[in-house]
Amino acid sequence: MCGIVGYIGSRKTAEVLMDGLKRLEYRGYDSAGIAVFHQGRIEIRRNEGKLKKLEEQIRGEGFDGKIGIGHTRWATHGRPSDENAHPHKAGRVALVHNGIIENYLPLKESLKKRGRIFTSETDTEVISHLINDFIEEGSSFPDAVKMALDKIRGSYALGILFEGDERRLIAARKESPLVIGIGEGEYFIASDIPPILPYTRDFIFMEDGEVAHLSSEGVRVFDAGGNQVSKEPKRVDWNSLMAEKGGFKHFMLKEIFEQPRAVIDTIRGRLSEEKGDVILEGVRLDLSVLKKIQRICLIACGTSFHAALVGKFLIERFCRIPVEADIGSEFRYRNPILGKDTLVVAISQSGETADTLAALREGKRHGAMTLAICNVVESSLARDADHVIYTHAGPEIGVASTKTFVTQLVILFLLALRMGRELGVLSHKDGRELIEELVRIPRLMEEMLKSSKQILEIARKYLPARDFLYLGRGINYPIALEGALKLKEISYIHAEGYPAGEMKHGPIALIDQEMPVVVLATRNEVYDKVLSNIEQVKAREGRVIALASRSDQEIGKKADDVISIPETHPSLAPILLTLPLQLLAYYMADLKGTDVDQPRNLAKSVTVE
Ligand code: AGP
Repeated sequence: MCGIVGYIGSRKTAEVLMDGLKRLEYRGYDSAGIAVFHQGRIEIRRNEGKLKKLEEQIRGEGFDGKIGIGHTRWATHGRPSDENAHPHKAGRVALVHNGIIENYLPLKESLKKRGRIFTSETDTEVISHLINDFIEEGSSFPDAVKMALDKIRGSYALGILFEGDERRLIAARKESPLVIGIGEGEYFIASDIPPILPYTRDFIFMEDGEVAHLSSEGVRVFDAGGNQVSKEPKRVDWNSLMAEKGGFKHFMLKEIFEQPRAVIDTIRGRLSEEKGDVILEGVRLDLSVLKKIQRICLIACGTSFHAALVGKFLIERFCRIPVEADIGSEFRYRNPILGKDTLVVAISQSGETADTLAALREGKRHGAMTLAICNVVESSLARDADHVIYTHAGPEIGVASTKTFVTQLVILFLLALRMGRELGVLSHKDGRELIEELVRIPRLMEEMLKSSKQILEIARKYLPARDFLYLGRGINYPIALEGALKLKEISYIHAEGYPAGEMKHGPIALIDQEMPVVVLATRNEVYDKVLSNIEQVKAREGRVIALASRSDQEIGKKADDVISIPETHPSLAPILLTLPLQLLAYYMADLKGTDVDQPRNLAKSVTVE
């Protein structure tokens, strides 16, 4: 998730761009850059590191151009570096990009065969070469852009400049956000509203496939077929902070609603549906490697540990390799039995959690193969591990992990599927069916998020409760733990996750009409057992909030409240079950008035023991 800005008008272009990039800071970034016209040429200034470094670089430079583009990078392909920072220039074309080009490698190979020289590891640089080549072959700037976009597959929000046309900025959007600001004789593009808000409140929101031409005469928007479309500007009355939250009250709520997009971005370019298999760049898991692996240790802390617990079920089910899930702060102190036959997988959204980092290093010390699952490119964990697979959730501002947790589950599903197919435990048919189910998940998540108001009502109903119990069985048990953690860490209401079958071994003594019990009861091989657990709770006047499969007609007769979960493969149910539990915790915390985005005593990343 990067941020792009662009400007055409009579202000000092570099200043407008830098101001805009600062207002994208909440999106996080590891490098930044701008491209501005000066004496008829496009001047590029860019560097790895914070915006301040870029400011130093351009201090005192007086670009005379009235048009420019800027970018903050949140790396997904290619480490943070000066060369990988945007804007990228090829010949007389410079551009900035937010998104992922899935077919950039074959395109890059064919461009290299034509003698094009690449200076970065990014997918983005391919687009600048494609456009420049088409122009050099005689196409106009607009036609060259259209022809290049027809060749690429993936997601993009683009701002493009061409030295042969100093009056025009072309923008294009597909599956990555892009807005246009309409000022008085000046026009803006940005990935989001905040960079433009200080200059105008009138916005055009581009649709997928659209291309916009910005010039001093105004803005013209064209659809995918090249036909001009009229777009009425809309007025936005948010203040800047509201705009950073996309109009949501808290970053956490925005990030809960971003989850379908985060899953799409994490899956993107990693599925081979016809082969019923997965492509995991960054990790070699062929048979020669897997044959040596006798045991897998999944290690993490907090919410990421709950992902590890789900990963245990997935990998054992798809690969039939023994898996242990361990808490980072425990692992290295129990003198673990590790060796060359062990794969240590460390899961951490920040990639900086001290306990998880130490556990990975313990694994390396024993000669184990190490793999990191991270959300931050080039984080300490990513650098220390032999291999790394990145979630593409984008920066997560809320201290409570939401979209990064769900994308960890997706990566663990992909990893288990890949290894299962390589080992032959999963057939081609199994792989295709699992991938078909996975591809449906983002839409099912969107559907569930539409009924968030029901969760708000349930939060209101149970707000007086001082203690909650969350019950789950099998692969859903870790989600009971996660739901309880979400509630306690942001609302400060005590909650405990428990294996449902354990109730009779003690916790059932807690049950009375004051104690709400959240039960994860989607249809799977232990559904009947969970149903009897609900009956045990009801027999003691407990109050049950059941999360049940949409087709389940039975459970409503037993539970006090039912939250419907769309039908999906049991291995993917944890992803869907997580959403209502995140929302329940969020609404209860918001109703209580706690600091949802920065709960007391907590830090986003625990970098100390
Ligand atoms: C969960 O909502 C918390 N933010 C916390 O438990 C977190 O998951 C844990 O500190 C691990 O962080 P990491 O994923 O960055 O390693």
